[in-house]
Amino acid sequence: MLTYIKKHELYKELDNFKDGQFFAVIDQKVKNHLPQWISFSAHVFWLKNPEEEKNLEYYARAVQFFVDQGISRTSTIYAIGGSATTDFAGFVSATLLRGISWVAIPTTLLAMIDGSIGGKVAVNLPQGKNLLGAFHSPNKIFICTEFLTTLPQTEWLSGKGEVLKYGFLSKQIHELILEKAPMEEIILACGTFKKEVVERDFYEKGERIFLNLGHTLGHAFELNLKIPHGQAVAMGLKYIFKMMGDNKSLTLWSEMVKNLDLVPETFDLKEFKDFDVEKFLIYLENDKKKVQASIRLVLVHEVGDCYVKEVPLKEFKEKILEDADFQD
Ligand SMILES: NC(=O)c1ccc[n+]([C@@H]2O[C@H](COP(=O)([O-])OP(=O)(O)OC[C@H]3O[C@@H](n4cnc5c(N)ncnc54)[C@H](O)[C@@H]3O)[C@@H](O)[C@H]2O)c1
Repeated sequence: MLTYIKKHELYKELDNFKDGQFFAVIDQKVKNHLPQWISFSAHVFWLKNPEEEKNLEYYARAVQFFVDQGISRTSTIYAIGGSATTDFAGFVSATLLRGISWVAIPTTLLAMIDGSIGGKVAVNLPQGKNLLGAFHSPNKIFICTEFLTTLPQTEWLSGKGEVLKYGFLSKQIHELILEKAPMEEIILACGTFKKEVVERDFYEKGERIFLNLGHTLGHAFELNLKIPHGQAVAMGLKYIFKMMGDNKSLTLWSEMVKNLDLVPETFDLKEFKDFDVEKFLIYLENDKKKVQASIRLVLVHEVGDCYVKEVPLKEFKEKILEDADFQD
């Protein structure tokens, strides 16, 4: 259940647990947004740097912490933070006592439109991101956009990068972007769109794969350039269209970048001095969407109409090496 909520209503919802058992994983950076009693609650597992702590070591610490605090199979874990926090708390909830319920309260733009919705939860392993995970949906998701007042610029950029993806998946979202609709409206449309796709195809056997648009190159950019997820997705979109000669989508990409008040150069590979094409190709080879010697790409016929194409890895690598932006 996806609920858009004002902060005072959220406070009321949380205050129900004031005198009871409130189990939570919370990003410390959003502490000031929350009722004061939460700061003193004994059952909160705080995260300082969620992406660095979304790993096996902190997973072990968290499950032991909750067991020591007397968590039971009827308890609920509240996850309050960006998608790194909701991924982590969701994975703890999926596995602790063979699975307990959880509630997501996303606090970044990316988490509100994408990361907290859909039940994919995970921790990172030294070998790669999100390699240990599960499908475990939160019972409720509360979207409160007032959290975004403290979001740093880099995280806005990341969230908007993911909004761009939705601008290709849905005609409605595309139009909202072109008419420069308020961000609240765009957030509502993106969240609802993802929720509906996931309800129809929870285990990614069909249309859910289209949500991976921009992610094949995007993940490789994210790891190689150490940039935020959504910024990498926006680059992934640009370069997959360029590589496949899809000029129509490239034009739409530029229009949407402008209307979201993004700077096109932010997504230009030439701006990154440390780019290492050899490493980039290795990341691509290790991609989860690789099928034997082919790579599975999500492409766009037109806005709202995507398709999957399997391209031989060798051919795809050659295309990358031919692109001037990828030359050292
Ligand atoms: N499960 C999914 O479907 C899914 C989808 C996309 C991405 N992801 C995962 O999401 C993660 C990236 O998500 P993210 O961008 O939300 O990152 P994040 O959770 O790491 O948050 C980004 C930064 O913003 C801070 N922050 C969070 N809320 C804030 C607020 N309101 N004010 C100020 N600072 C705040 C965090 O402390 C962090 O420093 C990655 O781990 C990625 O793998 C998961």
